[in-house]
Amino acid sequence: MKTIAQLVEMKEQSNKISMVTAYDFPSAKQAQQADIDMILVGDSLGMTVLGYESTVQVTIEDMIHHGKAVRRGAPDTFVVVDMPIGAVGISDELDLKNALTLYQQTEANAIKAEGAHLTSFIRKATQIGIPVVAHLGLTPQSVGVMGYKLQGSTKEAALQLIKDAHHVEEAGAIALVLEAIPSDLAQEISQQLSIPVIGIGAGKDTDGQVLVYHDMLNYGVDRHAKFVKQYSDFSIGINGLKQYNEEVKSGAFPSEAHTYKKKIMSEVNKND
Ligand code: KIV
Repeated sequence: MKTIAQLVEMKEQSNKISMVTAYDFPSAKQAQQADIDMILVGDSLGMTVLGYESTVQVTIEDMIHHGKAVRRGAPDTFVVVDMPIGAVGISDELDLKNALTLYQQTEANAIKAEGAHLTSFIRKATQIGIPVVAHLGLTPQSVGVMGYKLQGSTKEAALQLIKDAHHVEEAGAIALVLEAIPSDLAQEISQQLSIPVIGIGAGKDTDGQVLVYHDMLNYGVDRHAKFVKQYSDFSIGINGLKQYNEEVKSGAFPSEAHTYKKKIMSEVNKND
């Protein structure tokens, strides 16, 4: 498993960091088998595996449930678990209690918190020993306020984002996720910060990349953002399900090959 120091070293040596989301045991296992550097148990699980419209309905209990499964599937990979909306940004006491619960119960290596307003939370969580990954740019928990659109696209917004990035670094963030921002801005922030910057929809000049498992493998997703590359096509599973359905109905499944051969009924007396 990569350590935080090794991730920083990767940045310093210009070795790109790979990160992918995972939400359950098998996807985590696959990510580990593929040697991915970091797994994110993103609150995108609200859409990808729970079928909500956004991340807004996701609870801390959901994150704990999925985070634990991912840890079991990828015991040797650096796992980050998202703080969902409402679990942080409420009060210092509640924020830290939730952060600690999430960190302890999932056995994650770090938690992730969305938004520049959480700088003081990042500082306090770091002080009590919880590693935090910051997330700036498009922050899906605030979709109701900012919508799903490119961020940092005016001079003022870009300057603000650069400032915010420095603030979260100074507060102790171990890494920064930058989502949906112009690639030259992402490059500038990556160069200015000492912590690894992981981009999604932020171009190629960040220290690493993160994609959502279900997007990149086309698994039950109807709409794809511009920045998603499809690396495989899990929609093929539907063909197997259709064939299974037909074979059950026609009696072709199960065949001899899928049936236990032992005969017992000759030994069973009708009156037993
Ligand atoms: O929840 C998530 O999957 C994320 C990524 C989009 C970075 O935060």
